[in-house]
Amino acid sequence: MREPYRIKVVEPLRRVTREERERLLREAGLNIFAVPAESCAVDLLTDSGTSAMSDRQWAGLMTGDESYACSRNFYRFRDAVRDVFGYPIVIPTHQGRAAEHLLFASVVKPGDVVPSNTHFDTTRANVEHQGAEARDLVVDEGLDPSCLHPFKGNLDPVKLDRAIREVGRERVPLVMLTVTNNSGGGQPVSIANVRAVREVCDRHGVPLFFDACRFAENCWFIREREPGWAKRSIKDIARELFSYGDGCTMSAKKDALVNIGGFVALKDAAWAEKITNLLILFEGFLTYGGLAGRDLEAIAVGLTEVLDEDYLAFRVGQVAALGEQLERAGVPIVKPVGGHAVYVDARAFLPHIPQSQFPGQALVVALYREFGIRAVEIGSLMFGSRDPKTGEPVYPRLELVRLAIPRRVYTNDHLRYVAESVARLFRERDRLRGLRITWEAPTLRHFTARLEELDAAAAPAAR
Ligand SMILES: Cc1ncc(COP(=O)(O)O)c(C=O)c1O
Repeated sequence: MREPYRIKVVEPLRRVTREERERLLREAGLNIFAVPAESCAVDLLTDSGTSAMSDRQWAGLMTGDESYACSRNFYRFRDAVRDVFGYPIVIPTHQGRAAEHLLFASVVKPGDVVPSNTHFDTTRANVEHQGAEARDLVVDEGLDPSCLHPFKGNLDPVKLDRAIREVGRERVPLVMLTVTNNSGGGQPVSIANVRAVREVCDRHGVPLFFDACRFAENCWFIREREPGWAKRSIKDIARELFSYGDGCTMSAKKDALVNIGGFVALKDAAWAEKITNLLILFEGFLTYGGLAGRDLEAIAVGLTEVLDEDYLAFRVGQVAALGEQLERAGVPIVKPVGGHAVYVDARAFLPHIPQSQFPGQALVVALYREFGIRAVEIGSLMFGSRDPKTGEPVYPRLELVRLAIPRRVYTNDHLRYVAESVARLFRERDRLRGLRITWEAPTLRHFTARLEELDAAAAPAAR
Protein backbone atom coordinates (compact mmCIF):
# COMPACT_ATOMS: atom_id res chain seq x y z
CA MET A 1 0.00 0.00 0.00
CA ARG A 2 1.15 3.57 -0.73
CA GLU A 3 1.57 6.21 2.00
CA PRO A 4 -1.95 7.64 2.64
CA TYR A 5 -0.53 11.14 3.12
CA ARG A 6 1.71 13.55 1.27
CA ILE A 7 4.65 15.46 2.65
CA LYS A 8 4.22 19.14 3.51
CA VAL A 9 7.17 19.71 5.84
CA VAL A 10 10.49 17.93 5.59
CA GLU A 11 13.31 17.39 8.04
CA PRO A 12 16.59 17.02 6.17
CA LEU A 13 18.74 14.01 7.00
CA ARG A 14 22.45 14.70 7.33
CA ARG A 15 24.82 12.48 5.38
CA VAL A 16 27.25 10.80 7.75
CA THR A 17 30.25 8.84 6.54
CA ARG A 18 31.16 5.39 7.81
CA GLU A 19 34.32 6.90 9.40
CA GLU A 20 32.21 9.40 11.33
CA ARG A 21 29.84 6.67 12.50
CA GLU A 22 32.81 4.59 13.58
CA ARG A 23 34.11 7.55 15.63
CA LEU A 24 30.69 8.25 17.15
CA LEU A 25 30.31 4.61 18.12
CA ARG A 26 33.72 4.59 19.75
CA GLU A 27 32.90 7.77 21.70
CA ALA A 28 29.56 6.21 22.72
CA GLY A 29 31.29 3.11 24.09
CA LEU A 30 29.35 1.06 21.50
CA ASN A 31 26.14 2.13 23.22
CA ILE A 32 23.53 3.19 20.68
CA PHE A 33 21.67 5.34 23.25
CA ALA A 34 24.70 7.68 23.33
CA VAL A 35 24.86 8.19 19.56
CA PRO A 36 23.50 11.61 18.42
CA ALA A 37 20.11 11.19 16.72
CA GLU A 38 21.16 13.56 13.94
CA SER A 39 23.78 11.08 12.82
CA CYS A 40 21.22 8.33 12.13
CA ALA A 41 20.04 7.71 8.57
CA VAL A 42 16.99 5.79 9.84
CA ASP A 43 16.21 5.89 13.57
CA LEU A 44 14.23 2.83 14.69
CA LEU A 45 15.12 3.08 18.38
CA THR A 46 11.46 3.49 19.38
CA ASP A 47 7.96 4.23 18.09
CA SER A 48 7.23 6.21 21.29
CA GLY A 49 6.92 9.98 20.98
CA THR A 50 8.47 9.84 17.50
CA SER A 51 5.29 10.22 15.39
CA ALA A 52 4.96 12.91 12.75
CA MET A 53 1.98 15.13 13.59
CA SER A 54 -0.51 16.04 10.88
CA ASP A 55 -1.29 19.52 9.55
CA ARG A 56 -4.47 19.45 11.66
CA GLN A 57 -2.51 18.67 14.80
CA TRP A 58 -0.03 21.47 14.10
CA ALA A 59 -2.94 23.81 13.42
CA GLY A 60 -4.45 22.65 16.71
CA LEU A 61 -1.31 23.75 18.55
CA MET A 62 -2.10 27.34 17.53
CA THR A 63 -5.47 27.05 19.25
CA GLY A 64 -3.79 26.19 22.55
CA ASP A 65 -5.49 27.90 25.47
CA GLU A 66 -2.76 28.17 28.09
CA SER A 67 -5.01 29.19 30.98
CA TYR A 68 -4.03 27.50 34.23
CA ALA A 69 -7.45 25.99 34.91
CA CYS A 70 -10.23 24.67 32.67
CA SER A 71 -8.66 25.59 29.33
CA ARG A 72 -10.86 24.90 26.31
CA ASN A 73 -8.39 22.27 25.06
CA PHE A 74 -8.98 20.19 28.20
CA TYR A 75 -12.64 19.78 27.27
CA ARG A 76 -11.73 18.82 23.69
CA PHE A 77 -9.21 16.31 25.05
CA ARG A 78 -11.62 14.91 27.65
CA ASP A 79 -14.40 14.50 25.10
CA ALA A 80 -12.09 12.80 22.58
CA VAL A 81 -10.94 10.31 25.24
CA ARG A 82 -14.54 9.67 26.39
CA ASP A 83 -15.63 9.18 22.82
CA VAL A 84 -13.12 6.40 22.11
CA PHE A 85 -12.68 4.76 25.51
CA GLY A 86 -16.06 5.38 27.08
CA TYR A 87 -14.73 6.10 30.59
CA PRO A 88 -16.31 9.19 32.18
CA ILE A 89 -13.37 10.46 34.28
CA VAL A 90 -10.33 11.60 32.31
CA ILE A 91 -7.11 12.68 34.03
CA PRO A 92 -4.27 14.10 31.89
CA THR A 93 -0.62 13.24 32.65
CA HIS A 94 2.65 14.16 30.97
CA GLN A 95 3.24 10.60 29.71
CA GLY A 96 2.31 6.96 30.24
CA ARG A 97 4.51 6.16 33.21
CA ALA A 98 3.10 9.15 35.11
CA ALA A 99 -0.39 7.69 34.61
CA GLU A 100 0.89 4.33 35.89
CA HIS A 101 2.53 5.93 38.89
CA LEU A 102 -0.63 7.81 39.88
CA LEU A 103 -2.87 4.75 39.46
CA PHE A 104 -0.63 2.28 41.29
CA ALA A 105 0.33 4.73 44.05
CA SER A 106 -3.41 5.19 44.68
CA VAL A 107 -4.60 1.57 44.70
CA VAL A 108 -1.65 -0.84 45.11
CA LYS A 109 -0.14 -1.63 48.51
CA PRO A 110 2.96 -3.56 49.59
CA GLY A 111 2.53 -7.34 49.21
CA ASP A 112 -0.10 -7.01 46.46
CA VAL A 113 0.10 -8.83 43.13
CA VAL A 114 -0.84 -7.15 39.85
CA PRO A 115 -1.41 -9.70 37.06
CA SER A 116 -1.04 -8.74 33.39
CA ASN A 117 -0.48 -10.42 30.03
CA THR A 118 3.02 -8.90 30.10
CA HIS A 119 3.90 -5.80 32.06
CA PHE A 120 5.83 -3.19 30.12
CA ASP A 121 9.06 -2.20 31.97
CA THR A 122 7.64 1.08 33.33
CA THR A 123 4.42 -0.65 34.45
CA ARG A 124 6.44 -3.35 36.17
CA ALA A 125 8.75 -0.80 37.78
CA ASN A 126 5.80 1.27 39.03
CA VAL A 127 4.08 -1.79 40.52
CA GLU A 128 7.33 -2.86 42.19
CA HIS A 129 7.89 0.69 43.43
CA GLN A 130 4.75 0.19 45.57
CA GLY A 131 6.30 -2.97 47.07
CA ALA A 132 4.00 -5.21 45.03
CA GLU A 133 4.64 -7.99 42.51
CA ALA A 134 4.02 -7.53 38.77
CA ARG A 135 3.06 -10.98 37.46
CA ASP A 136 3.05 -11.89 33.74
CA LEU A 137 0.42 -14.45 32.69
CA VAL A 138 0.53 -14.35 28.89
CA VAL A 139 -0.68 -17.44 27.00
CA ASP A 140 2.06 -20.02 26.32
CA GLU A 141 1.96 -19.25 22.57
CA GLY A 142 3.12 -15.71 23.41
CA LEU A 143 6.42 -17.11 24.69
CA ASP A 144 7.28 -18.99 21.50
CA PRO A 145 8.88 -16.69 18.87
CA SER A 146 8.00 -18.97 15.94
CA CYS A 147 4.39 -19.82 16.92
CA LEU A 148 1.92 -18.30 14.43
CA HIS A 149 -1.03 -17.80 16.82
CA PRO A 150 -3.08 -14.70 15.76
CA PHE A 151 -3.42 -13.31 19.31
CA LYS A 152 -0.16 -14.01 21.07
CA GLY A 153 -0.79 -11.09 23.43
CA ASN A 154 -3.74 -12.84 25.15
CA LEU A 155 -3.73 -13.17 28.92
CA ASP A 156 -4.31 -16.79 29.98
CA PRO A 157 -7.64 -16.76 31.91
CA VAL A 158 -6.87 -20.11 33.57
CA LYS A 159 -3.53 -18.86 34.87
CA LEU A 160 -5.28 -15.67 36.01
CA ASP A 161 -8.00 -17.51 37.91
CA ARG A 162 -5.38 -19.74 39.56
CA ALA A 163 -3.22 -16.73 40.50
CA ILE A 164 -6.12 -14.84 42.12
CA ARG A 165 -7.19 -17.92 44.09
CA GLU A 166 -3.65 -18.60 45.22
CA VAL A 167 -2.87 -14.99 46.21
CA GLY A 168 -6.33 -14.13 47.57
CA ARG A 169 -8.62 -11.48 46.10
CA GLU A 170 -7.70 -8.91 48.77
CA ARG A 171 -4.11 -8.87 47.50
CA VAL A 172 -5.06 -8.33 43.83
CA PRO A 173 -6.15 -4.68 43.51
CA LEU A 174 -6.52 -4.82 39.73
CA VAL A 175 -5.63 -6.74 36.57
CA MET A 176 -3.78 -4.92 33.75
CA LEU A 177 -4.14 -5.88 30.09
CA THR A 178 -1.58 -4.39 27.69
CA VAL A 179 -2.89 -3.80 24.15
CA THR A 180 -0.91 -4.55 22.06
CA ASN A 181 1.51 -6.49 24.21
CA ASN A 182 4.72 -4.50 23.67
CA SER A 183 7.10 -6.64 25.73
CA GLY A 184 5.74 -9.73 23.95
CA GLY A 185 6.57 -8.35 20.48
CA GLY A 186 3.61 -5.99 19.87
CA GLN A 187 1.21 -8.94 19.70
CA PRO A 188 -2.55 -8.28 19.90
CA VAL A 189 -5.23 -9.34 22.39
CA SER A 190 -8.59 -10.61 21.04
CA ILE A 191 -12.07 -9.48 22.11
CA ALA A 192 -12.83 -13.09 23.08
CA ASN A 193 -9.85 -13.01 25.43
CA VAL A 194 -10.89 -9.69 26.96
CA ARG A 195 -14.34 -11.18 27.65
CA ALA A 196 -12.78 -14.27 29.23
CA VAL A 197 -10.48 -12.14 31.39
CA ARG A 198 -13.45 -9.97 32.41
CA GLU A 199 -15.36 -13.07 33.48
CA VAL A 200 -12.51 -14.13 35.75
CA CYS A 201 -12.25 -10.59 37.16
CA ASP A 202 -16.02 -10.54 37.80
CA ARG A 203 -15.88 -13.94 39.51
CA HIS A 204 -13.42 -12.49 42.01
CA GLY A 205 -14.63 -8.87 42.03
CA VAL A 206 -11.31 -7.50 40.71
CA PRO A 207 -11.25 -4.37 38.48
CA LEU A 208 -9.79 -4.67 34.98
CA PHE A 209 -7.61 -1.89 33.54
CA PHE A 210 -6.01 -1.58 30.12
CA ASP A 211 -2.56 -0.29 29.26
CA ALA A 212 -3.96 1.22 26.08
CA CYS A 213 -0.82 2.67 24.37
CA ARG A 214 -1.36 0.85 21.07
CA PHE A 215 -5.10 0.27 21.22
CA ALA A 216 -5.80 1.26 17.60
CA GLU A 217 -3.22 -1.16 16.23
CA ASN A 218 -4.73 -3.85 18.50
CA CYS A 219 -8.23 -3.09 17.16
CA TRP A 220 -6.94 -3.29 13.60
CA PHE A 221 -5.66 -6.82 14.27
CA ILE A 222 -9.04 -7.75 15.78
CA ARG A 223 -10.77 -6.59 12.62
CA GLU A 224 -8.32 -8.48 10.43
CA ARG A 225 -8.05 -11.69 12.42
CA GLU A 226 -10.99 -12.27 14.75
CA PRO A 227 -14.15 -13.80 13.28
CA GLY A 228 -17.15 -11.47 13.39
CA TRP A 229 -15.31 -8.14 13.40
CA ALA A 230 -14.32 -7.69 9.73
CA LYS A 231 -17.16 -5.28 8.95
CA ARG A 232 -17.03 -3.15 12.10
CA SER A 233 -15.30 0.22 12.35
CA ILE A 234 -12.14 0.54 14.42
CA LYS A 235 -13.97 2.89 16.78
CA ASP A 236 -16.75 0.33 17.31
CA ILE A 237 -14.16 -2.32 18.11
CA ALA A 238 -12.36 0.04 20.51
CA ARG A 239 -15.64 0.87 22.28
CA GLU A 240 -16.39 -2.85 22.62
CA LEU A 241 -12.88 -3.64 23.87
CA PHE A 242 -12.86 -0.93 26.53
CA SER A 243 -16.45 -1.64 27.61
CA TYR A 244 -15.11 -4.69 29.47
CA GLY A 245 -12.70 -2.55 31.53
CA ASP A 246 -12.97 -0.25 34.51
CA GLY A 247 -10.38 2.13 33.16
CA CYS A 248 -7.07 2.52 31.40
CA THR A 249 -3.69 4.18 31.45
CA MET A 250 -2.31 5.48 28.18
CA SER A 251 0.90 6.85 26.79
CA ALA A 252 -0.38 9.22 24.10
CA LYS A 253 3.12 9.03 22.58
CA LYS A 254 2.00 5.96 20.64
CA ASP A 255 -1.57 5.74 19.32
CA ALA A 256 -2.52 9.37 19.98
CA LEU A 257 0.12 10.32 17.40
CA VAL A 258 1.80 12.99 19.54
CA ASN A 259 5.29 13.58 20.91
CA ILE A 260 4.30 13.91 24.58
CA GLY A 261 1.28 13.18 26.78
CA GLY A 262 -0.77 10.53 28.53
CA PHE A 263 -3.78 9.98 30.74
CA VAL A 264 -5.69 7.82 33.18
CA ALA A 265 -9.38 7.31 32.33
CA LEU A 266 -11.73 5.43 34.64
CA LYS A 267 -15.21 4.93 36.06
CA ASP A 268 -14.67 4.83 39.81
CA ALA A 269 -15.01 8.23 41.52
CA ALA A 270 -13.30 7.13 44.75
CA TRP A 271 -10.20 5.91 42.88
CA ALA A 272 -10.27 9.07 40.76
CA GLU A 273 -10.23 11.22 43.88
CA LYS A 274 -7.08 9.49 45.18
CA ILE A 275 -5.45 9.82 41.76
CA THR A 276 -6.25 13.51 41.39
CA ASN A 277 -4.86 14.27 44.85
CA LEU A 278 -1.53 12.82 43.68
CA LEU A 279 -1.92 14.47 40.28
CA ILE A 280 -1.92 17.92 41.84
CA LEU A 281 1.12 17.02 43.91
CA PHE A 282 3.21 15.51 41.10
CA GLU A 283 1.88 16.59 37.70
CA GLY A 284 -0.30 19.69 37.82
CA PHE A 285 -3.89 20.87 38.07
CA LEU A 286 -6.72 18.48 37.11
CA THR A 287 -7.25 20.02 33.69
CA TYR A 288 -3.67 19.99 32.40
CA GLY A 289 -1.71 17.33 34.36
CA GLY A 290 1.77 18.40 33.28
CA LEU A 291 0.83 19.25 29.69
CA ALA A 292 0.32 22.53 27.85
CA GLY A 293 -3.14 23.34 26.48
CA ARG A 294 -1.76 22.89 22.97
CA ASP A 295 -0.55 19.35 23.81
CA LEU A 296 -4.07 18.42 24.92
CA GLU A 297 -5.40 19.71 21.60
CA ALA A 298 -2.88 17.65 19.60
CA ILE A 299 -3.95 14.51 21.51
CA ALA A 300 -7.63 15.23 20.84
CA VAL A 301 -6.94 15.46 17.11
CA GLY A 302 -4.55 12.47 17.12
CA LEU A 303 -7.11 10.20 18.77
CA THR A 304 -9.45 10.78 15.84
CA GLU A 305 -6.79 10.41 13.16
CA VAL A 306 -5.46 7.13 14.54
CA LEU A 307 -8.85 5.47 13.93
CA ASP A 308 -8.66 6.18 10.20
CA GLU A 309 -8.68 2.87 8.38
CA ASP A 310 -6.36 3.96 5.56
CA TYR A 311 -3.88 5.15 8.14
CA LEU A 312 -4.03 1.86 10.08
CA ALA A 313 -3.91 -0.35 6.99
CA PHE A 314 -0.78 1.48 5.90
CA ARG A 315 0.75 1.56 9.37
CA VAL A 316 0.36 -2.11 10.20
CA GLY A 317 1.04 -3.03 6.55
CA GLN A 318 4.31 -1.09 6.50
CA VAL A 319 5.58 -2.95 9.55
CA ALA A 320 4.42 -6.30 8.07
CA ALA A 321 6.08 -5.50 4.72
CA LEU A 322 9.41 -4.92 6.44
CA GLY A 323 8.99 -8.30 8.16
CA GLU A 324 8.18 -10.00 4.83
CA GLN A 325 11.21 -8.51 3.09
CA LEU A 326 13.45 -9.72 5.90
CA GLU A 327 11.91 -13.18 5.87
CA ARG A 328 12.39 -13.48 2.11
CA ALA A 329 16.08 -12.75 2.68
CA GLY A 330 16.21 -15.57 5.25
CA VAL A 331 16.63 -13.23 8.23
CA PRO A 332 15.24 -14.90 11.39
CA ILE A 333 12.45 -12.77 12.90
CA VAL A 334 9.72 -13.17 15.53
CA LYS A 335 6.41 -14.19 13.91
CA PRO A 336 3.78 -13.10 13.27
CA VAL A 337 5.07 -9.55 12.95
CA GLY A 338 3.47 -7.29 15.60
CA GLY A 339 1.88 -3.87 15.19
CA HIS A 340 4.74 -1.46 15.77
CA ALA A 341 8.02 -3.27 15.26
CA VAL A 342 9.90 -6.15 13.68
CA TYR A 343 11.99 -8.19 16.11
CA VAL A 344 15.09 -9.93 14.72
CA ASP A 345 16.15 -13.14 16.49
CA ALA A 346 19.78 -12.23 17.15
CA ARG A 347 20.77 -15.64 18.47
CA ALA A 348 19.70 -17.30 15.22
CA PHE A 349 21.22 -14.43 13.21
CA LEU A 350 24.63 -14.74 14.92
CA PRO A 351 24.88 -18.34 16.17
CA HIS A 352 28.68 -18.01 16.48
CA ILE A 353 28.33 -15.31 19.19
CA PRO A 354 27.31 -16.73 22.60
CA GLN A 355 24.85 -14.81 24.78
CA SER A 356 27.71 -13.91 27.10
CA GLN A 357 29.09 -11.80 24.23
CA PHE A 358 25.86 -9.89 23.51
CA PRO A 359 24.91 -10.97 19.97
CA GLY A 360 21.93 -8.56 19.92
CA GLN A 361 24.11 -5.57 20.74
CA ALA A 362 26.74 -6.76 18.24
CA LEU A 363 24.04 -6.65 15.56
CA VAL A 364 22.86 -3.21 16.70
CA VAL A 365 26.43 -1.88 16.51
CA ALA A 366 27.02 -3.34 13.05
CA LEU A 367 23.72 -1.96 11.71
CA TYR A 368 24.67 1.52 12.79
CA ARG A 369 28.32 1.34 11.74
CA GLU A 370 27.64 -0.03 8.26
CA PHE A 371 24.30 1.59 7.40
CA GLY A 372 23.50 4.36 9.91
CA ILE A 373 20.41 2.46 11.13
CA ARG A 374 19.66 2.72 14.85
CA ALA A 375 17.86 -0.25 16.41
CA VAL A 376 17.68 -1.43 20.01
CA GLU A 377 18.83 -4.61 21.73
CA ILE A 378 16.28 -6.47 23.86
CA GLY A 379 18.39 -9.30 25.14
CA SER A 380 21.28 -10.07 27.44
CA LEU A 381 22.51 -6.47 27.67
CA MET A 382 19.04 -5.21 28.66
CA PHE A 383 17.88 -8.14 30.79
CA GLY A 384 21.00 -10.17 31.67
CA SER A 385 21.75 -10.41 35.39
CA ARG A 386 23.65 -12.47 37.93
CA ASP A 387 22.26 -15.13 40.22
CA PRO A 388 22.28 -13.44 43.66
CA LYS A 389 23.43 -16.68 45.33
CA THR A 390 26.05 -18.07 42.91
CA GLY A 391 27.04 -14.90 41.04
CA GLU A 392 26.67 -16.87 37.79
CA PRO A 393 25.34 -14.91 34.79
CA VAL A 394 21.65 -15.41 33.98
CA TYR A 395 20.48 -14.73 30.40
CA PRO A 396 16.99 -13.99 29.07
CA ARG A 397 15.27 -16.63 26.94
CA LEU A 398 15.14 -14.39 23.90
CA GLU A 399 17.92 -12.36 22.35
CA LEU A 400 16.19 -9.83 20.11
CA VAL A 401 16.91 -6.69 18.14
CA ARG A 402 13.86 -4.47 17.77
CA LEU A 403 13.27 -2.36 14.68
CA ALA A 404 10.49 -0.06 15.95
CA ILE A 405 8.78 1.98 13.25
CA PRO A 406 7.81 5.58 14.11
CA ARG A 407 4.31 6.51 12.88
CA ARG A 408 4.03 8.50 9.62
CA VAL A 409 7.76 9.27 9.63
CA TYR A 410 9.51 6.96 7.17
CA THR A 411 8.47 6.11 3.63
CA ASN A 412 8.36 2.61 2.21
CA ASP A 413 11.63 3.44 0.49
CA HIS A 414 13.35 4.13 3.81
CA LEU A 415 12.19 0.76 5.05
CA ARG A 416 13.32 -0.97 1.87
CA TYR A 417 16.77 0.45 2.65
CA VAL A 418 16.48 -1.03 6.15
CA ALA A 419 15.45 -4.44 4.80
CA GLU A 420 18.28 -4.49 2.23
CA SER A 421 20.82 -3.41 4.86
CA VAL A 422 19.78 -6.06 7.40
CA ALA A 423 19.77 -8.69 4.62
CA ARG A 424 23.28 -7.66 3.56
CA LEU A 425 24.52 -7.89 7.12
CA PHE A 426 22.93 -11.33 7.35
CA ARG A 427 24.92 -12.49 4.32
CA GLU A 428 28.12 -11.16 5.94
CA ARG A 429 27.23 -12.24 9.47
CA ASP A 430 30.30 -14.42 9.96
CA ARG A 431 32.54 -11.36 10.25
CA LEU A 432 30.60 -9.87 13.19
CA ARG A 433 32.26 -10.20 16.57
CA GLY A 434 31.01 -10.42 20.13
CA LEU A 435 31.27 -7.64 22.72
CA ARG A 436 32.41 -7.19 26.29
CA ILE A 437 31.13 -4.71 28.87
CA THR A 438 33.82 -2.33 30.16
CA TRP A 439 31.52 -0.31 32.46
CA GLU A 440 27.94 -0.79 33.71
CA ALA A 441 25.52 0.91 36.09
CA PRO A 442 23.95 -1.18 38.90
CA THR A 443 20.42 -0.91 37.38
CA LEU A 444 19.02 -0.54 33.85
CA ARG A 445 22.56 -0.95 32.55
CA HIS A 446 21.66 -0.98 28.85
CA PHE A 447 21.04 2.79 28.84
CA THR A 448 24.56 3.75 29.90
CA ALA A 449 26.83 0.68 29.67
CA ARG A 450 30.09 0.99 27.75
CA LEU A 451 31.34 -1.91 25.68
CA GLU A 452 34.21 -2.95 23.43
CA GLU A 453 34.53 -5.40 20.59
CA LEU A 454 36.30 -8.67 21.23
CA ASP A 455 39.26 -9.42 19.09
CA ALA A 456 38.32 -12.50 16.99
CA ALA A 457 41.41 -14.39 18.15
CA ALA A 458 41.25 -13.24 21.76
CA ALA A 459 37.50 -13.81 22.21
CA PRO A 460 37.03 -15.68 25.50
CA ALA A 461 35.05 -18.88 25.43
CA ALA A 462 31.36 -18.57 26.32
CA ARG A 463 30.89 -18.24 30.05
C1 LIG B 1 3.02 -0.81 26.69
C2 LIG B 1 3.61 0.44 27.26
N1 LIG B 1 3.15 0.91 28.43
C3 LIG B 1 3.65 2.03 28.97
C4 LIG B 1 4.65 2.76 28.35
C5 LIG B 1 5.20 3.99 29.02
O1 LIG B 1 4.86 5.15 28.35
P1 LIG B 1 5.76 6.48 28.44
O2 LIG B 1 7.03 6.21 27.69
O3 LIG B 1 4.91 7.52 27.79
O4 LIG B 1 6.00 6.77 29.87
C6 LIG B 1 5.17 2.30 27.13
C7 LIG B 1 6.25 3.05 26.46
O5 LIG B 1 6.92 2.60 25.56
C8 LIG B 1 4.63 1.11 26.56
O6 LIG B 1 5.07 0.62 25.39
